[in-house]
Amino acid sequence: MRIAISTGGGDAPGLNAVIRAAVLSALNRGWEVLGIKRGFAGLLGEDEVVPMTRDTVRGIAHLGGTILRTTSRGNPFSYPVKQPDGSTVSVDRSDELIENAKRLGIDALITIGGDGSLLIAKMLHDKGVKIVGVPKTIDNDVSGTVTSFGFDTAVNTALEAIDKLHTTAESHDRVIVLEVMGRDAGFIALHSGLAGTADVILIPEIPYQMTKVCEKIMSRDKAGRRFSIVVVAEGAYPRGGDVSLMGASLPGEAKRLGGVCDVIAKEIQRITGKESRSLVLGHLQRGGMPTGYDRLLATRFGTAAVRAIVEEKWGHMVALQSPHIVSIPLEDALRERKRVDPRHDLVLTARETGISFGD
Ligand code: F6P
Repeated sequence: MRIAISTGGGDAPGLNAVIRAAVLSALNRGWEVLGIKRGFAGLLGEDEVVPMTRDTVRGIAHLGGTILRTTSRGNPFSYPVKQPDGSTVSVDRSDELIENAKRLGIDALITIGGDGSLLIAKMLHDKGVKIVGVPKTIDNDVSGTVTSFGFDTAVNTALEAIDKLHTTAESHDRVIVLEVMGRDAGFIALHSGLAGTADVILIPEIPYQMTKVCEKIMSRDKAGRRFSIVVVAEGAYPRGGDVSLMGASLPGEAKRLGGVCDVIAKEIQRITGKESRSLVLGHLQRGGMPTGYDRLLATRFGTAAVRAIVEEKWGHMVALQSPHIVSIPLEDALRERKRVDPRHDLVLTARETGISFGD
């Protein structure tokens, strides 16, 4: 049996722990394992396919990033190919990928990725490829799993930032607006904001109104709490308005969200007269050592992916359905993106402890 592993999309703390667990679990069954470098690019002749041994995965479980590297612009079904005139066109290279996998004697694939990579996995499965998925995202927006690895680490990184911002905001009587990641989901903002006792949490699932945000800040001010912490998800937007974009995307890349914290800080200062500052936490949330929770989850996912291969669960994704690790059809996981339910008890808890969602 020869399997291959790839990591695609944005990296997330815990990827290396998944790789290690899957490789060891496969080697312990007497299988051979290949590592595909940079998403699927390694199978398209643009990077390497390397043998994975015990040595290649030694001492990596606690490391951020991915030893297999990754790309957010490597969809084999619409692969960006540069033309002689400098322009880029999208080409379907999936048949070539399947041929190359056959040529390398790969019996089954494990792909570790977010919704984009899992959709590619499903499309490859529809073409007959024996593939299983492992959900990876700091955004926590993949359905069918309670959470994915990377999310807990990102929340803790955001929490550390909130704790630090609290002391400086209080010292200066300032409003500080911290922007966290999450794309169109507000999980990182909600979890870190609630744990960090922010005063305002703004998420894409609850479009905000500046007047409400400012009312909250001014009511604190009147009560003698002259500083405020606002945690905003990068994909949050005002009621009737639009998301903020930062910079142009490259061919094959999704829109780049970012900058909403600056818009909000300027508005707060204009409306309330209070000195305001903003900070984009950005890719710090993707780096660093995975937390113990993420390492455990990643390790369980890695071994479960190999078990899914043993059980021939092709086109499935491993998932946490507490307390169990299960495998579910990819199409179930992909049917709808997971979003914060505005009636969820975390939202109610936040509201009932005085946090405003700007609505
Ligand atoms: O999906 C994970 C994520 O970190 C999002 O939260 C963020 O919008 C995006 O990736 C940033 O991706 P990139 O690597 O393209 O900057």
